[in-house]
Amino acid sequence: MMNTPEKTALVTGANSGIGLALTQKLLAEGYRVIGTSRSGQIADFSHPNLTVVTLDVTNDASIEQAVAAIGHLAPSIDVLVNNAGVGSDLGTLAPERQLLRDTFATNVDGTILFTEPMLPLVRDGGQIVFLSSKMGLPAFAGPDSPAYRVSKAAINMYAAILAERVAERNIAVTPMHPGWVQTRMGGSGAPFTVEESAAGLFRGIKARPESGKFWNVETDSLVA
Ligand SMILES: NC(=O)c1ccc[n+]([C@@H]2O[C@H](COP(=O)([O-])OP(=O)(O)OC[C@H]3O[C@@H](n4cnc5c(N)ncnc54)[C@H](OP(=O)(O)O)[C@@H]3O)[C@@H](O)[C@H]2O)c1
Repeated sequence: MMNTPEKTALVTGANSGIGLALTQKLLAEGYRVIGTSRSGQIADFSHPNLTVVTLDVTNDASIEQAVAAIGHLAPSIDVLVNNAGVGSDLGTLAPERQLLRDTFATNVDGTILFTEPMLPLVRDGGQIVFLSSKMGLPAFAGPDSPAYRVSKAAINMYAAILAERVAERNIAVTPMHPGWVQTRMGGSGAPFTVEESAAGLFRGIKARPESGKFWNVETDSLVA
């Protein structure tokens, strides 16, 4: 018989890539997981402690419905993982209006506008993690992927702002670089498997780094 999980995690974009692997890791570690996907389903995977909720972070009505559903399922979330993201202009050089819009709509506006109504559901002493990228850090700047890089830089800043706002509730906020990972976004040539990345992200969650600082899974350490 399976033990009743003591902790609950919420993972957005739980149907694919890093989000799915982290969902599986959290379940294996004894968490109850509420995973979101745009279809409301996760193909080819189920678990007694996994519930799937429909969420498109670019759609206000979808956010409202998802937050209401999550509130009914679990009024106290231990770890909120904002994983959903797109890399619409990865590898391109010149900024282009539609690619900027598409990228920001999910990675910035959508991520922020989903996180805000979720704040009352995150328990005092809990954690909020953002799947960011070191591509959004000035120290790792390159000439390519302007919308993606700027979107991740923006979310790093939002994480720093949020860390200040929720400090009095002892909620730790951490943007994390998951490594370069073999996913639809990362491609098959990436050095990290999704399992390796998920294990690293879980180590980062367990480490509970200083709130507002950027954590790199590749080195299991903060980036100054
Ligand atoms: N792979 C890497 O090397 C790497 C490196 C650094 C950071 N990251 C970050 O890690 C996160 C996960 O990426 P991944 O590599 O696992 O890519 P992925 O396999 O393409 O997964 C992206 C996930 O985000 C979801 N998503 C996209 N737009 C959404 C929206 N509007 N509303 C809700 N969900 C949406 C996708 O849903 P659908 O299946 O419906 O599209 C999918 O579940 C992203 O934030 C990415 O920027 C990845």
